Amino acid sequence: MTLIKAVLGLSVLAQSAIAVLRLGCSQLVTERFDPLSWPGKVSPHVHQVTGGNAFNLTMNPNDDYSELASCTSCRVKEDKSNYWTAVVYFKHDNGTYIRVPQKPNFEVGKTSGGFTVYYISGYPPFQHTYAFARGFRMMVGSPTLRAEKERSLDDVSSYASTFRCWDFEDQNDPQYPYIGTNLHPPGMSPNDTVGFPTRYCPNGVRSTIIFPSCWDGASLDTKDHKSHMVYPEGPVDPIFGIIWSNGSCPATHPVKVPTVQYQVVWDTSPFKDMWPSDGRQPLVLSNGDPTGFGQHADYVFGWEGSSLQTAMDNCKDQKGDPQLCSDYLTILTDDEMNQCKKQVEIDEVVEGEYISALPGCNPEQAGPELATAVTGCTAVSTTISRGAEMTTSRYTQTHVGTVQPTSTYPAPTATVTYVA
Ligand SMILES: *[C@@H]1O[C@H](CO)[C@@H](O)[C@H](O)[C@H]1NC(C)=O
Ligand SMILES: *[C@@H]1O[C@H](CO)[C@@H](O)[C@H](O)[C@H]1NC(C)=O
Ligand SMILES: *[C@@H]1O[C@H](CO)[C@@H](O)[C@H](O)[C@H]1NC(C)=O
Ligand SMILES: *[C@@H]1O[C@H](CO)[C@@H](O)[C@H](O)[C@H]1NC(C)=O
Repeated sequence: MTLIKAVLGLSVLAQSAIAVLRLGCSQLVTERFDPLSWPGKVSPHVHQVTGGNAFNLTMNPNDDYSELASCTSCRVKEDKSNYWTAVVYFKHDNGTYIRVPQKPNFEVGKTSGGFTVYYISGYPPFQHTYAFARGFRMMVGSPTLRAEKERSLDDVSSYASTFRCWDFEDQNDPQYPYIGTNLHPPGMSPNDTVGFPTRYCPNGVRSTIIFPSCWDGASLDTKDHKSHMVYPEGPVDPIFGIIWSNGSCPATHPVKVPTVQYQVVWDTSPFKDMWPSDGRQPLVLSNGDPTGFGQHADYVFGWEGSSLQTAMDNCKDQKGDPQLCSDYLTILTDDEMNQCKKQVEIDEVVEGEYISALPGCNPEQAGPELATAVTGCTAVSTTISRGAEMTTSRYTQTHVGTVQPTSTYPAPTATVTYVA
């Protein structure tokens, strides 16, 4: 039985409760920007960004990004959120690096770069899912991590960031998304790993990153961008994984919000003939991580008005096809998504050619201890259009803004602390 069929079987019990949206998102820009952890500054390592074109060096949570953005690189016009992850480089035997290109996930259309974003609600089936409030943002994972967190069914977070080695017999088989290694939900295949796969994967490597889905109901962000959110209580179901977990939200974080999941498909096939013959694992995350344990992702909410709530209440296709929710959402064409781009603002090469070092100052650090920042870094630290200092001190100033949540969760006002 395939996962989809398994999920469909399950859904008979709770058909009216489960909502899924699965959005192809093309690349908006790739550069050293990270407005959550490094607002106003050039960030230490490269990220790929998708979503609304109001993405910027600084993103004040009091701004309404659904109004500021004029386009989105994601499938749904109402969604001006921003989504970002690190990128992967291939390290050639001659010591130089080149960005690993990405290819579309199955059944997302002809996206250009980027990744797939999922919004999943309805699990546990009878708990209401509230859309995120305006000003909400969060992060998952840690760029300095270099040691494996052992997967345990009792520890939901240990399934949050995984890699899958795609090894299909026949990629042209229309069933290929649903066979072989894809029989299992993310993290649950015996072939899924927390670190990079240790062999060449003929059909590429798929990253899955799953955000926590229980909110404290008050903070739109926290200084670590994490502690306002936790995963539902365990254990993780070995058949349904985190995404269909039936765990409830703990009393400290009682508000169920959509489960946001990113999937990135790294196309390693251009490097087939250059794959190291000595067994060296040649993939390196842009944060100087050759292990994969430091995979991380960020989210800034930016849906128009109550459109996400409407989608979570009404988009019931189990495979998350946005076309089947076009009564409620405006579905963009591939061309419309792919045309939404943001100009690069940092004058350095990050992709398309072999480079002698990873952009920023990211010498490979293989751990297992946490990676440390490089001192005396001379990497480009200003944007082309305006001056932005790169600094080793992460937090220089704290602003506190107040944002009225737009979600219907009965919280009077949420206070957001952000750093700039
Ligand atoms: C980015 O921020 C700068 C400085 O605040 C501003 O001038 C510019 O208009 C912003 N760009 C976008 C796309 O919002
Ligand atoms: C490393 O190998 C790549 C791929 O063959 C080549 O394009 C690049 O010029 C080489 N760089 C050096 C420094 O040898
Ligand atoms: C694990 O990978 C091997 C080698 O590609 C494959 O033969 C096997 O079917 C995979 N197992 C699962 C459960 O995906
Ligand atoms: C939730 O899942 C666990 C483990 O899969 C199962 O034992 C339990 O009965 C489920 N609870 C509900 C309420 O469905």
